[in-house]
Amino acid sequence: MYQAVYNGQLSGNGKYTKKCQHYFENQYGFKKCLLTTSCTDALEMAAILCNIQLGDEVIVPSYTFVSSALAFVRQGAKIVFADSMERNPNIDAEKIESLITPRTKVIVPVHYAGVACDMDRIMEIAEKYDLLVVEDAAQAIDSFYKGKPLGSIGHLAAFSFHETKNIISGEGGMLAINDERFIRRAEIIWEKGTNRAEFFRGEVNKYGWVDVGSSFLPSEVVAAFLWAQLESLNEIQQKRKLLWNKYYELLKPLADSGRFRLPDIPEYATNNAHMFYLVCNSLEERTALIQLLKENDILAVFHYLSLHSSPYYQDKHDGRSLSNCDRYADCLVRLPMYYDLNIEDVERICNVINGL
Ligand SMILES: Cc1ncc(COP(=O)(O)O)c(C=O)c1O
Repeated sequence: MYQAVYNGQLSGNGKYTKKCQHYFENQYGFKKCLLTTSCTDALEMAAILCNIQLGDEVIVPSYTFVSSALAFVRQGAKIVFADSMERNPNIDAEKIESLITPRTKVIVPVHYAGVACDMDRIMEIAEKYDLLVVEDAAQAIDSFYKGKPLGSIGHLAAFSFHETKNIISGEGGMLAINDERFIRRAEIIWEKGTNRAEFFRGEVNKYGWVDVGSSFLPSEVVAAFLWAQLESLNEIQQKRKLLWNKYYELLKPLADSGRFRLPDIPEYATNNAHMFYLVCNSLEERTALIQLLKENDILAVFHYLSLHSSPYYQDKHDGRSLSNCDRYADCLVRLPMYYDLNIEDVERICNVINGL
């Protein structure tokens, strides 16, 4: 960060922004990366790039963070919410095809807890109906589907570096562009609708207003913070996986006895240890578990509320029941998971849970 200050450029698209972007491009094979100030911003850029028009339909899982849908709503889209799978909170790829209409334009798979959606099936459907796929990879850095990095499979992908994620910059995000058709326009949208990036590369002799856009790029201070995290990526991931595996090992006996379910990692997916969650048998059991942990000074929290029945969207939803999504909204609880946690903390938390 000091270096970013000494370099004399604190505004965006400087040395550290480029270093981070090149790192991601080289490490994960994304064709082009652009850092953004949040994953929400990256999703907003994706919605603009997909050229969403009023009334276009976008298929989004209901069990997700509001931004997965909101970014497209801002461009005029109608969101068609999809249910989760029975086995884990990811979108049920087998149910997507029945949601497609002539107005469908985009599918947004969200890799919940950094665990891959069934991307072969989703890309096959997208190809069949000529749809775009925007991966919401907010939680999915350094995770893979059949050996392919998440975020490298869809036409576009959005990552988050919010402080709750595996690698962080306070607030922060990134758009990964895998379909080369979008690269030039993405750079313009990123820089307030101007061709400034081309000017700084010497490709044009002046720059001006050529399209829509916004100020989506972060400052060099944010990028420098992120760069320091990237230098420690392996160490961070190793530590998180150690903690995650300890949770799994210590809670397996109680899960085997039917008290709750442990996280599900399908055979096609890897685990980036972003989150450790349990799925309780009912809302009452989850409430009791959260209370028990609270009495022992352990903060465990539930996660998303179903977006299809949110105050903003319930009148716009078509009334289909999304029962797996509702079950995760009622029954899923997240246990503490952050870099500074240690094995002794995990053992203590599991002891409390095992006393259920
Ligand atoms: C699935 C998902 N998408 C999008 C976001 C938005 O990320 P950001 O806070 O970086 O805008 C989050 C945030 O937690 C998320 O979990």
